[in-house]
Amino acid sequence: MHKDIAKILISEEEIAKRSKELGEQISKDYADKAPVFVALLKGSIPFIAELIKYCTIDDMEIDFMAVSSYEGGVESNHNVKIIKDLDRDIFGADVLVVEDIVDTGLTLKKVLKLMHDKGAKSVKVVSLLNKKERREIDIEADYVGFEIPNEFVVGFGLDYQERYRQLPYVGILKNEVYSKE
Ligand code: IMP
Repeated sequence: MHKDIAKILISEEEIAKRSKELGEQISKDYADKAPVFVALLKGSIPFIAELIKYCTIDDMEIDFMAVSSYEGGVESNHNVKIIKDLDRDIFGADVLVVEDIVDTGLTLKKVLKLMHDKGAKSVKVVSLLNKKERREIDIEADYVGFEIPNEFVVGFGLDYQERYRQLPYVGILKNEVYSKE
C-alpha cells in the first residue's frame, strides 16, 4: 500500500467485480440503442476503461469532456469550468455520463444541463462512487458502483492535487498529507 494512504476502501478486485456487474446491467438496458458514453476527465479514465470491457453493445461510442470544480484542493469552490468539450455532436443521442464520484452533485448538475442543452435524447449517469452525505443538490446517478462515507478518497482515477490517480484501488488519504500545506 502507498505510504500516504491510511486505508484501502475498495480493492482492485472489488472494483473489477462491480464494474462487470454494472457493464452487464448497462448492456441489457442499452441493448437496442446506440449510446454515447461521455467520460468526465480525468478522474473517470480508469473506470470507463474497466467498465467498457464488460459492455456488449455493438453500437456504442465513447467521448470525453473535462470540467473542473475542485481546482486541486479538498473542498469544492462551487465553480465548474468546461476545460474540454466533446468531439462529437450528441444531438438526438442516448448519453451515458461516466463519473468517478458524485459528491456535492454540483458538477453533475452542470454536466446534465449541458447534455440536455446539446440536444441529447436521454441522459443517464454511471458513477463509480457516491458520497451521499455531502450532497448539496438533489441529484442521483442512475448506476452507482459503491456508496462511500464522508472521507476524502484517492486512487483509481481520483486525485489530490493531480496525484495518486494511478493507484489501482480507492483509498482514504492520510490526514497529514493535506494538513501539511
Ligand atoms: P461534486 O461537484 O462536488 O459532486 O464533485 C465532483 C468532483 O469532485 C469529482 O468528479 C471529483 O473530481 C471531485 N471529488 C469529490 N470528492 C472527491 C474525493 O473524495 N476525492 C477526490 N476527488 C473528489
